[in-house]
Amino acid sequence: GVDKKILVIPGDGIGQEVTAWGQKVLMTIAENYKHNFSFDEGIMGHVAIEATGNPLPDETLEKARKSDAILFGAIGHAKYDNDPTLKVRPEQGLLKIRKELGLYANLRPIKLFDELLEASSIKPEILSGADILFFRELTGDVYFGEKKRTEDRNTASDLMIYHRYEVERIARKAYEAARSRRKKLCSVDKANVLEASRLWREVVQEVAKEYPDVETEHMFIDNAAMQLIKDPKRFDVVLTGNLFGDILTDEASQIAGSMGMLASASVGDSTGFYEPIHGSAHDIAGKGIANPLASILSAALMLDISFGLKTESLRVIKAVETTLKQGYRTMDIANKHTENHLVMGTEAMGAKVLENLS
Ligand code: NAD
Ligand code: IPM
Ligand code: MN
Repeated sequence: GVDKKILVIPGDGIGQEVTAWGQKVLMTIAENYKHNFSFDEGIMGHVAIEATGNPLPDETLEKARKSDAILFGAIGHAKYDNDPTLKVRPEQGLLKIRKELGLYANLRPIKLFDELLEASSIKPEILSGADILFFRELTGDVYFGEKKRTEDRNTASDLMIYHRYEVERIARKAYEAARSRRKKLCSVDKANVLEASRLWREVVQEVAKEYPDVETEHMFIDNAAMQLIKDPKRFDVVLTGNLFGDILTDEASQIAGSMGMLASASVGDSTGFYEPIHGSAHDIAGKGIANPLASILSAALMLDISFGLKTESLRVIKAVETTLKQGYRTMDIANKHTENHLVMGTEAMGAKVLENLS
């Protein structure tokens, strides 16, 4: 077995509810396969602001640096969403940890479990067989460019900025991944308008020359948003910037049935960071009905990408599949044919997956 130190950061809202199940899955895998996973916990987001005044306390960052991988839930609180004048905000914690750990590549796999064909609002025949891997750049773009507000408070700006090296390094990762898939890469930008996108396209065109075996396509973000729903099967690897990737992957969650199904892996210079793509979901937080599968599938990504435990990772995915085959659903992935007794909350769903792991 392997020895690994895992930091768990549940965060806010449903982050607390679902991350417990990602962790339990990791514990069960450790037991079943004789690995030694040790767990520590860190605070971030609204809970950390409440406790320390800081959305990412130094202590959490130190623990993160010393861990082999991080399982994160979600951050965010309605208080800040409703009051844009607040200076200290939960999201700053997440952005800072991504930057500090050099997590420049955010992998968001979009794969539909056949059992969920009817859970999406998109027609089954359009969806069936869709399998996309997004590479969202995560430490640059308008997220990290200079932010300004004039003294009279009447004008505001965020700088959209990319450096050549930032585009190059994520492009290489995306091309390497395309090589082991269907060898198609679509780079998404807004190069007809934005200078940062023209640099993006220029650099991707150069990197493309190193991968002549991969078919490259460049698409504008507005068109990509449309094509994704019209014909998701046309995409294999999608490479895009921070903001466009954020938006397109929430849209793409409908290809997988629900936001509650989408896991992600953030990688780069050191420790891998694993999290659902969804947020703290104020509308359902505290009700015990959030879908824990995105967190569980994030744990599966950790096993594969950070620890190289492919068999264990596939075992988790299989357990999720079995659970869905048995008919169990949280309310976000239920459909009109789902029998009432099979619709369950976070705890019951998590427990079913654990059962199917053993
Ligand atoms: P959200 O992702 O929290 O929720 C969007 C919708 O999807 C909601 O209707 C929610 O109920 C549903 N949903 C999300 N996850 C689900 C799950 N596991 N099971 C069932 N349904 C689920 O996005 P939002 O409402 O725009 O944002 C809420 C807060 O979360 C904000 O404060 C935002 O800043 C924050 N946020 C954080 C992250 C993160 O931590 N990575 C990501 C997105 C948003
Ligand atoms: C995500 C979230 C974050 C982002 C927010 C909460 C900062 O939406 O992880 O997708 O925009 O990256
Ligand atoms: Mn997002």
